[in-house]
Amino acid sequence: MTTSIRPRTGTELRLTGAEARQVSELTLRLAERYRAADDERLLQELPLLTDELPLRVRRFLRAFSLDQAHGFCVVNGHLVDDERIGPTPAHWKDETRIHRELPEEILVLLYGSLLGEPFGWATQQDGHLVNDVFPIRQYERELLGTGSKTPLTLHTEDAFHPYRADYIILSALRNPDSVPVTVAEADFSRLPQDVLDVLFQNRFHIVPDKSHLPENNTVRTDEDRLVFENIARLIDGLGLVPMLTGSRSHPLLCFDATHMSAPPEDTEAVRAFAAAAELLDAGLTDCPLEAGSCVFMNNHRVVHSRSAFQPRYDGTDRWLKRVNVTHDLRKSRGMRRSVGARLIG
Ligand SMILES: [Fe+2]
Repeated sequence: MTTSIRPRTGTELRLTGAEARQVSELTLRLAERYRAADDERLLQELPLLTDELPLRVRRFLRAFSLDQAHGFCVVNGHLVDDERIGPTPAHWKDETRIHRELPEEILVLLYGSLLGEPFGWATQQDGHLVNDVFPIRQYERELLGTGSKTPLTLHTEDAFHPYRADYIILSALRNPDSVPVTVAEADFSRLPQDVLDVLFQNRFHIVPDKSHLPENNTVRTDEDRLVFENIARLIDGLGLVPMLTGSRSHPLLCFDATHMSAPPEDTEAVRAFAAAAELLDAGLTDCPLEAGSCVFMNNHRVVHSRSAFQPRYDGTDRWLKRVNVTHDLRKSRGMRRSVGARLIG
């Protein structure tokens, strides 16, 4: 895949010093009130707590959520206290670690609440609601957010899953080598009608990435085992799926350059897949991430990727927080343990 990166467009809001302090004071205060990111009292209160975020940010994200703007946007200039958050961890599987970055986890939940309802996967990172994205030595060459030396190819987040997120939020706690998130958005109406027809049909295979496999999670109890049996059954029943859905002029996109493919015998679908991939490739945009950047991606309009980078494993590695957001938590009720549960699986 060739890479032609376009300059960033007008999708950025930079906090003023006063706004940054306002956000920081709010999240520090909330981190004293609530014990963890999955504290049920916090999740219940989230929409009310967003009232204390700067009005300019709330207005900016509201416009983004209405699909009227680009498929991604960035809010820069958040304060990150490098000393307080401590070194980048070696693995997310450390139950004894005190999350001194709880204020930053609460921030992505507050932002998520402005766009919809934050949720997580029971089958990913042991069911943490706010996920960590940093290089882990054992996954160095894997196509995972916690990999590093293998580039992540363009993908819709959790493209295989019918309840995948409507939005993905990534927040950078540190990024010393300025490794960006690359996003791609495309105008599919530019494709020939017959190619577009194929992309709207159930003509493509899709499989999950390895983050949802039991070997990359902790499976201790029968209940844990049941969760992975459920997702295995869902994956077995996926069949062929479309790449595009919704309106012909502004379709919704579900794409994964690695985990999605056309059956080799379906030459029309093979050609349509290649045309879509080429179109997305021509629309690549680098989204720089500095410490204090929050990136918001519409998971139906943009796909994203990450180039390979050299991990450090010395506590100073690139460290992002990630949360999934849905417009409609109700639709996944059959795969959640209770009405209020935020984990699907
Ligand atoms: Fe991703």
